[in-house]
Amino acid sequence: MSAPAQVAWDSLPTAEWTLQQVDAAGSSGIPDSRELVGRPPMPANLEDEKSLDEHHKRRADWQMALQGHLKSLEARQMIEFQSHDEITYALTAEGYGIAHSGSQEARLFAALPPGGDEAKTLDELKKELGADVLKIGQGKAFAKRWARKHPEKQGALARMPGVEEIVDDTAEDLREIRRSGTLQDGQRVNDLKKRKLVVQKKLLWFSITKGPQFSLKIEKLATDLSAEMLQSGEWKTRPFKKYNFDAEGVMPVTGALHPLLKVREEFRNIFFEMGFTEMPTNRFVDSSFWCFDSLFVPQQHAARDMQDTFFIKSPAAAKHIPEDYLSRVTAAHEDGGPYGSTGYGYKFSRDVTEKLVLRTHTTAVSAAMLYELANRPGGFKPAKMFSIDRVFRNEAVDATHLAEFHQVEGVVADYNITLGDLIGFMQIFFAKMGVTNLRFKPAYNPYTEPSLEIFSYHSGLGKWVEIGNSGMFRPEMLRPMGLPEGVNVLGWGLSLERPTMIRYGINNIRDLVGHKISITDVERAPAVRFP
Ligand code: PHE
Repeated sequence: MSAPAQVAWDSLPTAEWTLQQVDAAGSSGIPDSRELVGRPPMPANLEDEKSLDEHHKRRADWQMALQGHLKSLEARQMIEFQSHDEITYALTAEGYGIAHSGSQEARLFAALPPGGDEAKTLDELKKELGADVLKIGQGKAFAKRWARKHPEKQGALARMPGVEEIVDDTAEDLREIRRSGTLQDGQRVNDLKKRKLVVQKKLLWFSITKGPQFSLKIEKLATDLSAEMLQSGEWKTRPFKKYNFDAEGVMPVTGALHPLLKVREEFRNIFFEMGFTEMPTNRFVDSSFWCFDSLFVPQQHAARDMQDTFFIKSPAAAKHIPEDYLSRVTAAHEDGGPYGSTGYGYKFSRDVTEKLVLRTHTTAVSAAMLYELANRPGGFKPAKMFSIDRVFRNEAVDATHLAEFHQVEGVVADYNITLGDLIGFMQIFFAKMGVTNLRFKPAYNPYTEPSLEIFSYHSGLGKWVEIGNSGMFRPEMLRPMGLPEGVNVLGWGLSLERPTMIRYGINNIRDLVGHKISITDVERAPAVRFP
């Protein structure tokens, strides 16, 4: 066996060095890898916690480095090894102090006059022993009945009468642990641990023998079978690296949900909780008919301007619009038809209604779904429906606006529902998001009357901010669809981006959507739960 003295503690073992040691150990191998190195030199000052820690770490680091080599040499079948571990106790800096100079209680005992009649004042003892030793020593010496307060002299300590000699068991125990790493009596080890005089250490060590492929030289193993090896026949002789079926493998690179999708999921859950069903929103391009006309938006309305809406060039016109419904919508716009309205009093244009657009709001989808609801086989049935999807507006892009964003929209169709229901729904819906303090402001939408903008108090901004838009859909919109008399529909919409930005503390929308967003932020964005 090679001499442990050769190991320099400031360098770690290499694979070649390890092979040499195994070779030198002969056929029985190395029974205990700790013998390869012995113990690293103890620090010069044992009562210095930092150098003690370094000392322990060095020993552990050395065995860990060895373990790395053993694993890779074993994979090449060059060696075989077994891991073992040893639990030992090591003295702390304070423990070393006591092993060296005696426990605080023994030092106090030694400082007191023999016999027990004479006493020493606390002041004197403090000067002699130091405040710390006196404080700990007094407690322990009293508990062990080595000393007591002098019955007559105020503020003075004396030996316990009759105690001539003491055994400093604490110091003795520590010296034993310093020698052997442990004590027979586990309870006493625990006491020392509690007093922070010893700490438990776990050291990994190994027994090592030669493997079938033992060699002093480490040949580079092939990891892949190549075309060249097959051609040259090298594959027959070349050593290959063995598969390691225990390897944990590289973490696969996986996708992450965008924050908007996380918040969307939370909204969906709120809607599902409230008994809503999800509307199909796969109609990004829609006719002006569904986006505007069916919603009683007049054909001259500013929203239908090139500045606000993206029109499709090719094809420019929708192929199919339900003809009889279209004629009812035309009548509603022109003179109110039979729906108790005067209409707008203009000539409805078929060309305008056919124009294809990128939908400007998800209310286009709600309109198509309400029409479907009115004309369902078996007749109308009350419904609560929602959608969350993308809409497009021809707007200047800035820190808070994009040309495309997402709307969250809900509609409720039932007999005799009122504005009170709308307000009640808003309160429940927003409360599920954690927004309770709502205010409603009269507003205008061509398709709702009354229309209400929803505000909530933002304590961060110190003001009321608009969080949504809502209203009771107009009869001019509902009756041409064929919804029965007495059925009212309430609806509301909000953007998905605004609550998402608030949730994640994002100030610029371009940090949330677009080519400038941080992939890492997206990956790390926590899932959202509204309160
Ligand atoms: N479509 C409206 C918007 O874009 C939202 C809304 C939906 C309003 C339903 C009333 C009813 O802001």
